[in-house]
Order: sequence, then C-alpha cells, then structure tokens
Amino acid sequence: RTKRLAISAEPAALDPTQLPNVTLTSYTKSKASQELIQNALLENDFMKHLEVGQILAIVDCMHLTTISQGCCVIKEGDDGSLVYVLEEGKVEVTKEGHKLCTMGPGKIFGELAVLYNCTRAATVTALTDIKLWTINRQCFQTIMMRTGLIRHSQHMEFLRSVPSFQSLPEDVLSKVADALEEARYADGDYIIRQGATGDTFFIISEGQVKVTKEKSGDEEPVLPSTLSRGNWFGEQALKGEDVRTASVIAVGDVTCLVVDRELEAEAAFFSSLS
Ligand code: CMP
Repeated sequence: RTKRLAISAEPAALDPTQLPNVTLTSYTKSKASQELIQNALLENDFMKHLEVGQILAIVDCMHLTTISQGCCVIKEGDDGSLVYVLEEGKVEVTKEGHKLCTMGPGKIFGELAVLYNCTRAATVTALTDIKLWTINRQCFQTIMMRTGLIRHSQHMEFLRSVPSFQSLPEDVLSKVADALEEARYADGDYIIRQGATGDTFFIISEGQVKVTKEKSGDEEPVLPSTLSRGNWFGEQALKGEDVRTASVIAVGDVTCLVVDRELEAEAAFFSSLS
C-alpha cells in the first residue's frame, strides 16, 4: 500500500448546527458496483470507521461519470469538492511532477481535500478512459453529519411507536435512543444462540425472527414463535441472566436495534419490559 502524506490532524470537525439543506439523490447501480464502492470505502483508513448506514448512504448517492484518457481528474493545489471511486480503467497520481502511484478499479481518491478541508494534495490523471463514481462535498458532509441527528429522531419515533415504551418519559426514551446501535442480519443468521452468554437486548426494527427453544429431558416441546417489528428479545440478559434461554434466528433480512447491559441505569426503561 502506498504511503500517504503524513496527516496528523483529525478530519475537519463537522458542526451539526451548520447542517446544509441538501437533498440526497440516490442513483441506481448494479450489485457489483455497490460492492466495489463499499469495499473501496472500507479499505480507506478514515471511511472504514463510518457506520454501516453512512457507508450505504454514500454508496447510494454516488453517480457515474466518464473521463477520457489523458485528462486531468484532480489538479494539485486546487480546491476540491468531489470524492471518487474508480470503477474502470487506471489513473496515475503525481505530486510536484513526481509519480506517486497508479490506481485501478475499486480505489478511492480525492477524499483528502473533502475530509480535511484542504487543497488537493496531488494530481490525478486518467491513464486510460475511465469510469468513476463521484459524490460531492455537500452530499458527503450531509451524510457524515445528518446520520447521528436523524438516527436519534428515527430511534425516538420508533420507540414511541412501540406500545410498551409509549408511556416512558421523553428523557428516558432519549437516552435509550442514543444508546441504540443498529445491527443487520441475513436469512438464517443466529442472532442469539441458546446456551451462549450474552448481555445485549434487541428490538426488531425491520423483518422477522424465529424463536426456538430446545427442550431438555421430559419437558414439553416448545413450538417456535415468530417476532416482528416492535417486538423485542434478549431481555433476560439484561435482568441478570447471562445464558441465553432460546435461539433467535433471522427469517429473511432483519434489522435490530441493540442495547447492551450498560444502560441498566435506565431502570425505568427496563422495568417497562416486564
Ligand atoms: P486529494 O488531496 O483530495 O486529491 C488528490 C488525491 O490523490 C488525494 O486526495 C488522495 O486521494 C490521492 N492520493 C493517492 N496517493 C497519494 C499520496 N501518496 N499522497 C497524497 N494523495 C494521494
């Protein structure tokens, strides 16, 4: 991997009060292109720490552009406003006339000026005709900033829609909304395995799960049950039981909001689970 310029500063801080009023447009793309962009983001030292939702939003917003062989894509010293992911072809990166590297499909570039609010650190030239996915600074920064705020209000809205949580005070709901993490599962994934230890609690926000419990000895067989949006499971682990008492398996794609035991302080929330 080519060594990047030494940049010690953190990416420029984004101020949520300066939220630009940008409508994010989504561009259709093949599964292969979605994966190419996603992998390019996950390979990048800064982007790989983004939330899944942010990565998917960037993938969604990128649109295709083509540039002819020999053209300059980025000029060193310019103000930069686009981040690129190469879909097809090859580019060369130079700095002060010296070649730094070449890059092929699946590589991201142009992110430094956008992330660090600085001028372009290098020149990027198309060595062949190229196809590129691009996203502009405004969309990129909107995704970076909005997610946290929007996620909070979406979580609040969702929690308020679950009858059991409706009577909880706003401040309790707000703390729970802050602590929720989103987790996605594919068909057949074991979200919880009976007998395993665990200290997380799940609320289903999308999809369905199947709960199965293996009987022991002469116990009656337990029929599998199905849970869906607004239902929860894993609450035993929050009440002090470490060992999972049943398995919970995804039926199709499932998104859960996950709370861990650290939130135990929110007694009001957990007592509402009874
Ligand atoms: P940016 O400074 O926005 O524009 C030029 C891009 O070249 C830069 O972002 C990086 O994405 C890319 N690049 C690749 N290798 C290097 C390097 N060694 N130093 C600086 N930029 C590099």
